Amino acid sequence: MNIGQFPQTRLRRNRHDRFTRRLVSENTLSTDNLIWPIFVTEGTGAVTDVSSMPGVQRVSLDRLAAHVEPAAKLDIPALALFPITPASLRDEAGTEATNPDNLMCRAARLLKKEFPEIGLIGDVALDPYTSHGHDGLIEDGYVVNDPSVEILVKQAVNQAAAGIDIIAPSDMMDGRIGSIRTALDVSGLVNTRIMSYAAKYASAFYGPFRDALGSGGLLTGDKKTYQMDPANTDEALREVALDLSEGADMVMVKPGMPYLDVIARVRQEFAVPTFAYQVSGEYAMLMAAIQNGWLDRDRVIMESLMAFRRAGANGVLTYFALDAARLLRA
Ligand code: PBG
Repeated sequence: MNIGQFPQTRLRRNRHDRFTRRLVSENTLSTDNLIWPIFVTEGTGAVTDVSSMPGVQRVSLDRLAAHVEPAAKLDIPALALFPITPASLRDEAGTEATNPDNLMCRAARLLKKEFPEIGLIGDVALDPYTSHGHDGLIEDGYVVNDPSVEILVKQAVNQAAAGIDIIAPSDMMDGRIGSIRTALDVSGLVNTRIMSYAAKYASAFYGPFRDALGSGGLLTGDKKTYQMDPANTDEALREVALDLSEGADMVMVKPGMPYLDVIARVRQEFAVPTFAYQVSGEYAMLMAAIQNGWLDRDRVIMESLMAFRRAGANGVLTYFALDAARLLRA
């Protein structure tokens, strides 16, 4: 018998049965890896659909506990909160961001009371509060750095004082992590963690999120003078290095799926807790195909999330968090 006619190695052998596929599996996805972003709105009795994000809703505070209950039952570790601010409360300077009774703070207090075991992540940036929809203050048509940091610091302390466990600056101003860390410590909030949106790109994939917040129509121009150029990766490593040196406990790459290479490089270079944001546009894209029957819902949700794990992400902010947790439990 001519042994040469057989392949020496058959990688298909390990794929033959489910049991070996399980044994040789290199990565896992669990509920521990899921963070659920939620949109809160003023008023009462309001649960409204975000049209470009089928299945995602904006919820008023009186409905919030019922909305979050399934996440608590499924043991999802953390929520990321996003407030929708009515135009009447928005101004040039995003003043509402520092109001101790703003929607974000009221939502945080309510959730901490109802679900003390769930971690709360607070986005820090001025775009929910500014009349122009930018993440910082504008002078002569330019989003200025240092004056923006001053108000972002106040926003962060305000949120932490209301019970937000993890401050997540998404504004991309330079030096804000260090300033926020110092201000938190001075305020006695030494255990408030910081998850920096370290590598956040000026991306077209945020469109549906801006619809959800109602900041899309307000936005003048684009965010290219502070968010990163999609062409760059070395720069992402510099952003991450700086944020870590300023005291970030965890870092994030955003968007997610089109930027898996960035996640992989960050994870390999720094070996620190690294998160990915599967953003609104990624959700909208997958949902559009799912609703058309072009993609298999359950499989594509799980595959998209496993891809983040394979790239090295510890966890994923995903609008599919509830669906994924249910599929993992089934
Ligand atoms: C605000 C912020 C944005 C997102 C999270 N925080 C939008 C933006 O930068 O314009 C996008 C999230 C998503 O698209 O799901 N700074």
